[in-house]
Amino acid sequence: MMESKVQQQLIDAALASRQQAYAPYSKFLVGAAVLAEDGSITAGANVENASYGLTICAERVAVGAAVANGARKLSAVAVVTSGGASPCGACRQVLAEFGGAMDVVLVDADDPTNVRTMTLDELLPEQFEL
Ligand code: THU
Repeated sequence: MMESKVQQQLIDAALASRQQAYAPYSKFLVGAAVLAEDGSITAGANVENASYGLTICAERVAVGAAVANGARKLSAVAVVTSGGASPCGACRQVLAEFGGAMDVVLVDADDPTNVRTMTLDELLPEQFEL
């Protein structure tokens, strides 16, 4: 489990990124932030498209940015949504590629003190691997 100060930094990064979400179709704003092994934090927000199926979830934007900056092992992810929703199945598998047992911190944007923590292997048992 990560230090509470680091967890708060991760949540703050996800909250800030949620402000940049591009979600004109669903109006459902999502912010995510991932913590890499070296302590760096990378955030992302959902990016929708008029061709709805091309939408990219916040988690995958954050993972892509972190990996493109050199990260290969992620130890935690924070996700902020109205109501504190948990990551979709596709995002669970993408997260698992970079840390099957990472901490998952779910935050309610309407009350950011409302935080639930779990691990990715709880959310996605029997992860697919090659
Ligand atoms: N969304 C995410 O960003 N992450 C998830 O794990 C689930 C859904 C986004 C996609 C879309 O922009 C909006 O939430 C509604 O589905």
